[in-house]
Amino acid sequence: MSPLVWDLAHVGSQEEQWLVRDVGGMEPLRPEIDKLYDAFEHSRSSRPSLPLLAPGESRGYLAQVRSKTLDILDRVPLEGSPLLEAGFAFGMMVQHEQQHAETMLATHQLRVGEPVLHPVAPDPRVLSRRVTGLPPEVLIPGGSFSMGTSVEPWALDNERPAHEVHVPGYWIDTVPVSNGSFLEFINDGGYANPDWWTAEGWSSRNDDDLTAPKYWMRDGHQWWRVRFGVVEPVPAEEPVQHVSFFEAEAYAKWAGRRLPTEAEWEKAARHDPVSGRSRRYPWGDEDPTSGHANLGGAALRPSPVGSYPAGASALGVHQLIGDVWEWTSSDFGPYPGFRVFPYREYSEAFFGGGYKVLRGGSWAADGAASRGTFRNWDYPIRRQIFTGFRTARNDAPAGGQ
Ligand code: AVJ
Ligand code: FE
Repeated sequence: MSPLVWDLAHVGSQEEQWLVRDVGGMEPLRPEIDKLYDAFEHSRSSRPSLPLLAPGESRGYLAQVRSKTLDILDRVPLEGSPLLEAGFAFGMMVQHEQQHAETMLATHQLRVGEPVLHPVAPDPRVLSRRVTGLPPEVLIPGGSFSMGTSVEPWALDNERPAHEVHVPGYWIDTVPVSNGSFLEFINDGGYANPDWWTAEGWSSRNDDDLTAPKYWMRDGHQWWRVRFGVVEPVPAEEPVQHVSFFEAEAYAKWAGRRLPTEAEWEKAARHDPVSGRSRRYPWGDEDPTSGHANLGGAALRPSPVGSYPAGASALGVHQLIGDVWEWTSSDFGPYPGFRVFPYREYSEAFFGGGYKVLRGGSWAADGAASRGTFRNWDYPIRRQIFTGFRTARNDAPAGGQ
């Protein structure tokens, strides 16, 4: 990870370049620091030794940039160019900042030493709405649906354009895989049996000596986890997080299933079989509220499976947005008709780079950077991010013997 203070000033630096200079047409505040905070100039591992602004200086810089940004927001028309249309550049920077806030939470989760973030008790209103006894899986009938978007004002370039995709019928888990279910895989010797792993997955399991999700520890029959510096029992009902793509894939195979493709994930989330159109979010077109999904970071944890009945999709699939990012089996690449906008280092530089697509948004993602079309990506070995998964299987072909 980057030092926290790098992320902090990087957020200010991007905001200065896009909003203060490009949109506002103002002179650079600190042109000498541009390169320091350019993610393509310096690898994460080299960032601690850069002459970074100190924490206080960084905060001062952010405040200066933000005050200019707000002046510019007051005076520029939010139309007339692709960058300004519906405030896109401002929306892009809101999302950028929130993405780095999530990254900073992953850094906090990774660090050792005295806890600095203090977990709060789960919201009783959320717990009271929780439903149990849901059917384990949902059938999504075969047919085409509209994937991606050409109309969502703040959608990033990789979510565009909308295009029809035919998806054969499949079954998908109603809720993400829980810690309790994942424990059955562990207890059945899942980490010791190469039958469940691909060759690549098995070597990753061996290279890193994987035996359980990251941050889990065993004491006899009891499993514990470290969460922001505090040790607590692993809660069985919470979606599993901190597993790599390979661990997710192995679990799915053990369960006689597979990971969903990105198109399968999005169809389960957005397709409305009555109107035939795709929704902005699983629950409809309305922006997320605390009743729909666990987003925004304050919870510092996913909610138990079944916690958001009001957030279910038209097809009856739950917790697609919020709680945990979900691994899909798809590689990160462009949609047909993709066009870079506004810079190639957001998406295009990562196409074909061995990244897997993540969908949905975790508890640490912000509502402004989560929607039915939003695409995230990471290396398949990555475990420190707030990622879990759900599984799928093919629908049996009709007329079989
Ligand atoms: C889309 C989350 C993979 O954090 O690397 C932040 C977002 N892009 N700054 C990342 C991003 C530029 C990106 N992810
Ligand atoms: Fe960034």
